[in-house]
Amino acid sequence: MKIHPWWSFYSSLVDICLFLLHDLELRLPTCRAYGTKILVQHGTPHVNINLEMNYWQSLPCNLSECQEPLFDFLTYLSINGSKTAQVNYLASGWVIHHKTDIWAKSSADRGKVVWALWPMGGAWLCTHLWEHYNYTMDRDFLEKRAYPLLEGCASFLLDWLIEGHDGYLETNPSTSPEHEFIAPDGKLACVSYSSTMDMAIIREVFSAIISAAEVLEKNEDALVEKVLKSLPRLRPTKIAEDGSIMEWAQDFKDPEVHHRHLSHLFGLFPGHTITIEKNPDLCKAAEKTLQKRGEEGPGWSITWKTALWARLHDQEHAYRMVKRLFNLVDPEHEKHFEGGLYSNLFAAHPPFQIDANFGFTAAVAEMLVQSTLNDLYLLPALPWDKWSSGCVKGLKARGGETVSICWKDGDLHEVGIYSNYSNNDHDSFKTLHYRGTSVKVNLSAGKIYTFNRQLKCTNLHQSIV
Ligand SMILES: *[C@@H]1O[C@H](CO)[C@@H](O)[C@H](O)[C@H]1NC(C)=O
Ligand SMILES: *[C@@H]1O[C@H](CO)[C@@H](O)[C@H](O)[C@H]1NC(C)=O
Ligand SMILES: *[C@@H]1O[C@H](CO)[C@@H](O)[C@H](O)[C@H]1NC(C)=O
Ligand SMILES: *[C@@H]1O[C@H](CO)[C@@H](O)[C@H](O)[C@H]1NC(C)=O
Ligand SMILES: *[C@@H]1O[C@H](CO)[C@@H](O)[C@H](O)[C@H]1NC(C)=O
Repeated sequence: MKIHPWWSFYSSLVDICLFLLHDLELRLPTCRAYGTKILVQHGTPHVNINLEMNYWQSLPCNLSECQEPLFDFLTYLSINGSKTAQVNYLASGWVIHHKTDIWAKSSADRGKVVWALWPMGGAWLCTHLWEHYNYTMDRDFLEKRAYPLLEGCASFLLDWLIEGHDGYLETNPSTSPEHEFIAPDGKLACVSYSSTMDMAIIREVFSAIISAAEVLEKNEDALVEKVLKSLPRLRPTKIAEDGSIMEWAQDFKDPEVHHRHLSHLFGLFPGHTITIEKNPDLCKAAEKTLQKRGEEGPGWSITWKTALWARLHDQEHAYRMVKRLFNLVDPEHEKHFEGGLYSNLFAAHPPFQIDANFGFTAAVAEMLVQSTLNDLYLLPALPWDKWSSGCVKGLKARGGETVSICWKDGDLHEVGIYSNYSNNDHDSFKTLHYRGTSVKVNLSAGKIYTFNRQLKCTNLHQSIV
C-alpha cells in the first residue's frame, strides 16, 4: 500500500520524538543542569493537558506498548498520591495535582492557585488505563494493572465530592485549568465549584470503573455500587447564554475568551461523554465554544483544537487548524503562546514543546478513523478537497481492530480491517460509517476483510498471523 508522503515522513518524525521523549523523561535533571531551553516547564510534566497529549497517539497509531513508562509512573504516583490524599484532604485513594516530577510529586505545587489547585491529575491519567484496555482488549492488563489504580482514583473522587444544595454531587473548591473568570463583584477570580472539566473527568473515570468492573465481574463490590449511585448525580454540562459550553458551574464572564485551554471540552475530546450521536445539542455548543476561543494559541492548543473539530466531523475547521500548526516560527522572533513549527518541524509553544508534535499525530488519526467499541467511522474529518487521494495503514480502533484505508479522487476506495480479539474468540459486530452510509458487519477474529466504497465486503481471507 502506498502511504501519503507527508504522513510517512511525519511517522518517522514521531518515532524520533518518542525516542526523545523517553530520553527527556529519564534525564530531566541532567537537562536542567545544562540550562537548556527545552525545559520550558521546569522539568515538571504538566498533567492538565501536556503529559497526556504526549500519549494521545499511542493507541490509535498502534504504539500501545509506548504507554508502559506512563503506567509505571502512575503506579509510583498512586503511592505518593495516597499520602497526599490522606494528609491534605483526609481522603482515601490517591490524588495528584497539575505538576509532577521524576520523584512522583503528588501534592499541589506552590504558586498561583489558578493552576496549582487542581486535584484532577490522577483522574485524567486514569482514563488512559481504560482506553488502553478498550484498544487492546488485554484483560490481564485490566485486572492486574489498571483496575487497582482505577479503584484508588475512584475512591478519592468519591471522598472529594460533596453534596451541593440542589442535590448534585459537587467538587468544591474547583478551578478550570489556568483560566480566570470575572466574579459577581467584578474582580478576577479563579476558584469556584464544579468546573465543567472536573465533572467531565469524574464522569469519564466513573464510567470507566463501572465498565471495567463489568468485564472483571466485580460489579457487586461496594466501591462500584457507590460509583453507580454517584454517576447520575454529577452536575451535568450546561450551555451558557451565548450558546457555548459553560466552563464553570455558573455562567461567569470570561476575561480572556481566547484562552489557550479547552478544558470545558474535555467530554468531547479526549473524553467521550459528548458525541454527535448522544448529545447533538452539546456538540452545537462545543462548536460555538471553539469559534469563541478562536484559532490562536501555543502548539498544543492548536492540536487539541484540531482533534476537537475532528470529533465534530468538521473537516474544514480541522484542516484550518492543521494549516495553522504548519506556521513557521522563527526562534529569533517568537511570541509567547503563538505556536507553530520550527524549521526542523519541532512544535513551538514557544519555545519547543513536544506535546504538539504528538498531539498533531493523534489529531490527524482522529480525522481519518474514529471508533467506539461498536462503531467505526471512516474518514470522518478528511479534508477532501485538500487531500483528495491517499492511504493510511495500520491505525487501531477500539475493540482491537487494525484499519487500513485508501481513498481516491475525493472518495473512499478500499478499507481493510483485521480483527484480533485475543481474549475471547466470539465474533465482533461493528457498524461501519462512511458519509451517511452505515453497515453492520460481523468481523471474526483472525480474518482480514476488505470493503469497497459501498461498504460491501469484497474479500475475506484468513490471516497468516
Ligand atoms: C514519593 O515516594 C518516594 C518513596 O517513598 C519518595 O522517595 C519520594 O521522595 C516521594 N516523592 C515526593 C515528591 O515526595
Ligand atoms: C470502552 O468499552 C466499554 C465496554 O467494555 C464501553 O462501554 C465503552 O463505551 C467503550 N468506550 C468507547 C469510547 O467506545
Ligand atoms: C502494530 O504493532 C505491532 C507491534 O509493534 C506490530 O507487530 C504490527 O506489525 C503493527 N501493525 C501494523 C499494521 O503495522
Ligand atoms: C460471523 O461470521 C462467522 C464466520 O465468518 C460465522 O461463523 C458466524 O456464524 C457469524 N455470526 C453471525 C451472528 O452471523
Ligand atoms: C491475536 O494476536 C496475538 C498476538 O498479539 C496472537 O497470539 C493471536 O493468535 C491472535 N489471535 C487471532 C485470533 O488472530
